Amino acid sequence: MSERRILVTAALPYANGHIHLGHLVEYLQTDIWVRFQKLRGHRCIYICADDTHGTAIMIRARDDGRSEEELIAEMQQHHIADFAGFDIEFENYGSTNSPANRELCHEFWQQLRAADLVVERDVTQLFDVEAGTFLADRFVRGTCPHPGCGLTDQYGDSCDNGHTYSPADLIDPVSTLSGSKPEVRSAPHLFIQLEQLHPFLEAWTQSGDHLQREVANYLKGHFLHEPLRDWDISRPAPYFGFEIPDSPGNYWYVWFDAPIGYIASTREWCEREGENFDEWWRNEATEIHHFIGKDITYFHTLFWPGMLKVAGFNLPTKVHIHGFLTVNGAKMSKTKGTFVRAATYLEHLDPSYLRYYYAAKLTPRVDDLDLNLEEFAAKVNSDLVGKVVNLASRSAKFVAGLGLSQVYPDDGGLFAAAAQEGEQIAAAYENCDYNQAMRRIMALADRANAYVEQHEPWKLKKDPEQHARLQDVCSVVLNLFRQLAVYLAPVLPRLAEQTGELLGAPIEHWAESQSPLCGNEVAKFKHMMQRVEKEQVQAMIEESREEAAPAMAPSDSGDALAAEPLAEEITIDDFAKVDLRVARVKSAEEVPEARKLIKLCLSLGGTEERTVFAGIKAAYQPEQLVGRLVICVANLAPRKMKFGVSEGMVVAAGGGGKEVYLLSPDEGAVPGERVH
Ligand code: 2FM
Repeated sequence: MSERRILVTAALPYANGHIHLGHLVEYLQTDIWVRFQKLRGHRCIYICADDTHGTAIMIRARDDGRSEEELIAEMQQHHIADFAGFDIEFENYGSTNSPANRELCHEFWQQLRAADLVVERDVTQLFDVEAGTFLADRFVRGTCPHPGCGLTDQYGDSCDNGHTYSPADLIDPVSTLSGSKPEVRSAPHLFIQLEQLHPFLEAWTQSGDHLQREVANYLKGHFLHEPLRDWDISRPAPYFGFEIPDSPGNYWYVWFDAPIGYIASTREWCEREGENFDEWWRNEATEIHHFIGKDITYFHTLFWPGMLKVAGFNLPTKVHIHGFLTVNGAKMSKTKGTFVRAATYLEHLDPSYLRYYYAAKLTPRVDDLDLNLEEFAAKVNSDLVGKVVNLASRSAKFVAGLGLSQVYPDDGGLFAAAAQEGEQIAAAYENCDYNQAMRRIMALADRANAYVEQHEPWKLKKDPEQHARLQDVCSVVLNLFRQLAVYLAPVLPRLAEQTGELLGAPIEHWAESQSPLCGNEVAKFKHMMQRVEKEQVQAMIEESREEAAPAMAPSDSGDALAAEPLAEEITIDDFAKVDLRVARVKSAEEVPEARKLIKLCLSLGGTEERTVFAGIKAAYQPEQLVGRLVICVANLAPRKMKFGVSEGMVVAAGGGGKEVYLLSPDEGAVPGERVH
């Protein structure tokens, strides 16, 4: 097949929140697809950026007492680090608040004006006089105005009973920004008359392979069966965004400039790499693939193709839409600790586990994906550790000095049969049916393991006369392993790299799955992947729960107590079980890969010491801690963490993050003394 030129995007994450496991469904799905295309020899780029504009970011920056620019710059660093931690590789990671994006928004705007698609109309909205801003629907709460409903504390546009209404009709509205009662005010807004593009959108959505069939049907049934409503794309000041050049005091609504950010981020990459921008966005030979979640279907399948059409850019070749993430069958929950940030996951678990688990569950349909934590551990352990890595760990050590056989031995047709399946596996990847690809690959792994069981290399090793045979058997097993590593490379880039090192042949192309290696040296086997332990998953959930606990107010108001009510009564004997000791911090060092941890070495007096990983990095510098006395839980069962074993806990107050206050004894106490 000739080389394709493919531009791929994932939705631009908002700059006012951290990346969590829900986001990662999409960024991993997309990364796997991009890596697959590259492995097949195509020219493929992965473009993304932060989505930085809008009221939510303006309010958050205001609450933090800093500028929006400071907030979005800090968030971008977090996002970039989180994605890198999961081996998600972008050609460019930009920002919608960039000069390139401003320029492109102007260009789109001119075209929309020239096509006579823009009209002005007054819009009535609630206005918070104290905060000095119009209120987006999610910043108003009140009572549902629907006759007979009366549900209190509902959002500005819809209630939990499913009634929809205008915020101005809400009974007893309250602004969530200031707590004041908002006023109804009117202001001019600019609208795009989408209905003029109806024939084009009907044809584009309903023909070809631009959308999954279920999505095309949804658009037909929900929007395209009637005239399309005008789209309100301006917001009056104050608003964090780009001011509309011919409408001073009005700003483009965040959803106007966000998708244009795909193009702006590509332009930045082109300028940096000396690429021809028009080749990527104004040449029909280039494929454009957007990966998004189902909640933003409307924007990407109606507004966006409409805007691209009017402005003369390439239309999407395909918009790939996925469902939401649930954890253990329910919505992610902060109180249950299942709302897990990317960075928190990485402190406890290997990113390859999640890459594989999500891949094993992703299909081309819009269904939701459930992360069942028990199944997660079981699947990673049985498939990756038990079936795949096991092949290498059971064979490489026997041929470490010898290398692979010079001629590929007779394997009963195993390698050839698995090579033949390559095209079906590739078709599954291409179609985003990673679930099918993983099932096929694991079936091949089963066959390879059956070969190992049948030929028992560990027995051949014991008999010097069988060593030539041992080399042949191990050459087969290592080649079958490598073939799987090629097929899995889009999902498990680290495993592909380790395999390349083991056999002295980097995995760079899908075709490497089609012919075995002969005569290669085999390096000393290094551990490739560890089993997932239940305790690691539990520790991640506990930490996520703690992160979500509300920050305590710095006063005696009782808020701290309300945030964490008193625990159940215990007896003095229960208390005595906890052995609290005075300890001196002998050394303290940051754990560079861990966002929150400092590694402490605590002396309990004499030679008795404890290594403790404490989540206090945001509140203390290591050098502040050395030499000071702390209180340590000295009889806590050791806990295996990603960075080592933690042998206790230091006692602290506070809600977490920067609000952590270590306890220390008054002068006179010495290390080792018990705290009663
Ligand atoms: O829903 C969201 O998270 C948006 N920030 C996605 C924007 S995608 C694109 F249009 F920029």
